[in-house]
Amino acid sequence: MTLKRRKLIAGNWKMNLNSVEATELADAIRVSLTQNPVDADVLLCPAFVHLEAVCGVMDELWEAQHEATDDDAPVFDARIFVGAQDCSPQNNGAFTGDVSAEMLSDIGCVAVVLGHSERRQYHAESDESVAAKVKAAWGQELLPIICVGETLEEREAGQTMDVIARQLAGSIPDGADQDNIVIAYEPVWAIGTGKVATLEQISEVHAFIRANLENRLAMVDELRIIYGGSVKADNAADIFALDDVDGALVGGASLKADSFLAIVRAAGL
Ligand code: PGA
Repeated sequence: MTLKRRKLIAGNWKMNLNSVEATELADAIRVSLTQNPVDADVLLCPAFVHLEAVCGVMDELWEAQHEATDDDAPVFDARIFVGAQDCSPQNNGAFTGDVSAEMLSDIGCVAVVLGHSERRQYHAESDESVAAKVKAAWGQELLPIICVGETLEEREAGQTMDVIARQLAGSIPDGADQDNIVIAYEPVWAIGTGKVATLEQISEVHAFIRANLENRLAMVDELRIIYGGSVKADNAADIFALDDVDGALVGGASLKADSFLAIVRAAGL
């Protein structure tokens, strides 16, 4: 039996949008979800330079939510929150070009995507460096969204589960529990290609991830495992209906308010 896990829909804006476009997109999402709330958590992940502005767009909403609950509920309780696409494993110092978890937390971020396949591919990120970044994120109470996924070559060679098991073992440090991580399964061959994995493939890997982490997490049934790779408005509802799918990490379709909101609303069905 799986417990009810509120779905998480994360928009990974990657290296897209200028400052006006980023704030307009965030504002359109805020207005729509304020007028018509959805029973799901929404995370916006703009490029570093737009994070503060997007947090600013959400400020009013967060303040209203704090007032409504009349307590010191953490910002993480907000239905729409903001996260980064990466962070440094270091706390501070001479690391030119890097951004620390503390800097992210300081401006209002509550989450960070780590180990995305584009970071692994273009920046040679290893499981070990992802694990170090997860610890840095925890140090600032950021929620790490840890990405795993096989390449087409690995899938065709029948290595999918081995690759996922290795990435889970190496990228998740000791101290993980169902509340302080989210796992994103993103088959590399499905990212930005329009080739969404089949429902069977998604189900199989998500169930494998949950079973694989059973011995490491006290309540693995409560872990959120989200799917990423060509999620669109027209396939989201079917993906969200799968047992072990707790949301989505959306790239291309998160860059337009209409398509992203349609995916968010599919999660609330
Ligand atoms: P996509 O990207 O939705 O454009 O396939 C997903 C991701 O890379 O997170």
